[in-house]
Amino acid sequence: MNSGDSSFVIGDSKEQATAVASSSHESPITNDGADSAVSLYLRQHESKPLLRFITCGSVDDGKSTLIGRLLYESKRLFDDQLAALEADSRRHGTQGERIDYALLLDGLAAEREQGITIDVAYRYFDTDKRKFIVADCPGHEQYTRNMATGASTADLAVVLVDARKGMLAQTRRHSFILSLLGIRHVVLAVNKMDLVGYDRAVFEGIASGYRELAAQLGIPDVQAIPLSALEGDNLLQRSPNTPWYGGPALLEHLEAVEVEDGQARTGLRLPVQWVNRPNQDFRGFAGTIAAGVARPGDPVVVLPSARRSTIAQVLGPDGPLQRAEAGQAVTLTLADEIDVSRGDLIAAAGDPPAVADQFAAHVLWMSDAPLLPGRPYWLKIGTRTVAASISEIKHRIDVNTQERLAAKRLELNEVGYCNLSLEEPVPFTSYVENRTLGGFILIDRQNNDTVAAGTLDFALRRADNVHWQHLDVDRAARARIKGQVPKVLWFTGLSGAGKSTVANLVDKRLHALGYHTFVLDGDNVRHGLNRDLGFTDEDRVENIRRVAEVARLMADAGLIVLVSFISPFRAERRMARERFAPGEFIEVFVDVPLEVAEARDVKGLYRKARAGLIPNFTGIDSPYEAPEHPEVHLAADRQDPESMVEQVLAALDL
Ligand code: ADX
Repeated sequence: MNSGDSSFVIGDSKEQATAVASSSHESPITNDGADSAVSLYLRQHESKPLLRFITCGSVDDGKSTLIGRLLYESKRLFDDQLAALEADSRRHGTQGERIDYALLLDGLAAEREQGITIDVAYRYFDTDKRKFIVADCPGHEQYTRNMATGASTADLAVVLVDARKGMLAQTRRHSFILSLLGIRHVVLAVNKMDLVGYDRAVFEGIASGYRELAAQLGIPDVQAIPLSALEGDNLLQRSPNTPWYGGPALLEHLEAVEVEDGQARTGLRLPVQWVNRPNQDFRGFAGTIAAGVARPGDPVVVLPSARRSTIAQVLGPDGPLQRAEAGQAVTLTLADEIDVSRGDLIAAAGDPPAVADQFAAHVLWMSDAPLLPGRPYWLKIGTRTVAASISEIKHRIDVNTQERLAAKRLELNEVGYCNLSLEEPVPFTSYVENRTLGGFILIDRQNNDTVAAGTLDFALRRADNVHWQHLDVDRAARARIKGQVPKVLWFTGLSGAGKSTVANLVDKRLHALGYHTFVLDGDNVRHGLNRDLGFTDEDRVENIRRVAEVARLMADAGLIVLVSFISPFRAERRMARERFAPGEFIEVFVDVPLEVAEARDVKGLYRKARAGLIPNFTGIDSPYEAPEHPEVHLAADRQDPESMVEQVLAALDL
């Protein structure tokens, strides 16, 4: 949360997100805030173009002074208006003040609903020529998170450099992330020129160094400006102290710079934010247009279902419109009664985006817990949320040098180039083409935190060329001939808890009763299929992913499968569970206190682990996350084997 350090701050992001959420229950067609002074003010300025920019640099570079001064000198919005605007936004949602909400609905704004603290303050000001929204991101160590949030909606970035220090590692880092997030226009603000005697050579040196970096990063437009935020040199007007500088002052440049609107070049893209169905007679699909134009009569296709229809009406805040374009929040009605849900995409029928479930993408990791390939996360793209995992980290990119490095995981603030695998296909475009449909966030499934932001590069073609092969003898037929219902008994617990012992006894009983079973045991599978895996977190994730897939194949074959793996992480046990129908997956927690397992030490591994000879040993220096709601909970240090077998068989319900 920002601390309200400036009177120009329009509420904090959390408050605004709440306003958006509550507005979605109101009709977007009415506009009861129209007569308020703020709406009037905003309408007066509505025709002016908007520039969104982000500022990067540290307080030491003079960032606060620069922004503060810019705001102060050009102030148009007064405290009381802001207060009114804030209150109004909360009451009326997306109505007359749609500019603010567009900002929130765009890009990565969704992550604000996901319980993560983002230190980005948005400030609003305007001049006679333009309106501005500034995202101010502090440069502390959570910078990827903040920058991703701020830059995902920005057209331009002001990168501050202290003239005395020149380009720093931080400058490179920030610029790299800006380039990743699709920023094509940068102002290099070489600040504190007064402290270097307005020396042209100092300025030119820094500017040319930066241009080189920008070229490497593919940032096409760089305007370097010699500044003194403190003295006001080249801030609003060109300064007599830099007669050698022929370019514009900062504000002049911000007013004039042309930022192309790439969104208009494709056909319509409207991610459906919510379905508005006040009664049987009206069904409207509301959202912010991500690209293209919507007009009554235009043929559309709804993705991913590929159902077709025609736009009947385009409704804006004041009623029907003949036309709406990218950035506008609208409600569409369609000519046909077709199924459209929240998360679908309404697209121009003649120019629909591709639909795919595997991608190459850049991922900026924002969580303290590392990204582990294979672990399931929620992926939110546009208004759609699907289960997804990183199938492979191709390489990590050093944010300071842009060097490509090998990596098996990504840590906080690291950037990787990854392959992504989604549980369902989604309509998409590359991030370069459209930020709304090419940008995504990853959400932790346990605690709902946003853990990453990413940009889609392209769909993997392999996804197009592999189809499901139909087989006539299906799972049910295979199970029927065995006279049983396929099940998976998933035994989890510490090494030495007795998982394999109990699994073995249960297996013997089932076998004697004539059931078709198979035991997948961690130690055994690690000798074959998984012999390439060790015991790091990422290897354990992959270990469980593979065995869950094998268990599913065996269940498809009609078997009762007994899986006996430590499987220490909740996320992967949950992933395994989700491979099966409800009731098919039975989690058996073989529970003994660590002291008991360690005292038994059947294989002598605890002793070795305590001696430091086995790194990452579960319970010693690698965590075991106990099940929260196992179907069967065995107190394996107190129960006798026979009673445990009975308990498992009872849960199996044969
Ligand atoms: S899991 O964590 O990835 O599910 P898995 O069940 O396959 O583990 O393998 C566990 C077995 O490997 C243990 O029973 C033990 O015999 C052996 N082992 C070797 N090193 C370790 C270790 N660092 N942590 C746990 N078990 C280990």
